[in-house]
Amino acid sequence: MDWGKQNRLSRLIQPDGHCFFLAMDHGYFLGPTSKLEKPGEMIKPLMSSVDALFLTRGVLRATVSSKDSTPIISPQDSKPIILRVSGGTSIVGGDLANEGLTTSIEEIIRLNATAVGLSVFIGSSYERQTLLSLTELINQCETYGIPVMAVTAVGKELEKRDARYLSLCCRIAAELGATTVKTYWCEDFEKVTESCPVPVVIAGGPKCDTALEVFEFIYDGMQRGAIGVNLGRNIWQDDCPVGVARGLQAVIHEKATPKQADDLYQTIKNGK
Ligand code: 5RP
Repeated sequence: MDWGKQNRLSRLIQPDGHCFFLAMDHGYFLGPTSKLEKPGEMIKPLMSSVDALFLTRGVLRATVSSKDSTPIISPQDSKPIILRVSGGTSIVGGDLANEGLTTSIEEIIRLNATAVGLSVFIGSSYERQTLLSLTELINQCETYGIPVMAVTAVGKELEKRDARYLSLCCRIAAELGATTVKTYWCEDFEKVTESCPVPVVIAGGPKCDTALEVFEFIYDGMQRGAIGVNLGRNIWQDDCPVGVARGLQAVIHEKATPKQADDLYQTIKNGK
């Protein structure tokens, strides 16, 4: 692997081999989804807990330039950026799977993205299209040493999230050359990680009832081979996003158990 790609990966994956990516790209198909109406405000208190931000170029530029005199994501002192580079669909449109590449390689380089992320919809009518977008992106990014995170997306079909389907998706994305794969947690998660030759990070999905549930499935996924998370709604839609972020940081980087993470969460939430 070339120095540039190694350098980028080392900014994303910490010396302990783990990573905590904050996903805030949802507006690209959900619009101003609940609690993400002002992405810049949302991330401010979370910045110290996370290792990288997953977002679109629109939000990146808006939070940098904006009317605000102090940029939230400062170009001088930024967390690494993983740029969401697929889209073209919406929650009110025909089919969420009908995505294409939205960002050129020149733009990816101009924004100095540390990595990029693109969704593939395996088993959908747009399987071929999204997989070929992935390979096109990988071909372009490999030239410049930019890591590509494949996102195994299910659209509205959340019931697809089982080990058999997700291991198929992760393996295909890795075979096509993805540097890392983001997928959902499921029962028997080791079946997904053990058959995937590249690192796997866990996505959150719709909000859980409690923070403890989040700590439990992330802890379980990491015990079964995931290297970290790319999580959104279960952090910023919680009543205490700082508490969830700090608890997750403890699970991911400090070997905390779900109970220890939840104690930390409760302490922060109750302002103790
Ligand atoms: C949305 C995404 C998100 O980045 C990913 O699903 C993680 O966010 P969440 O934890 O809210 O599911 O790819 O398209």
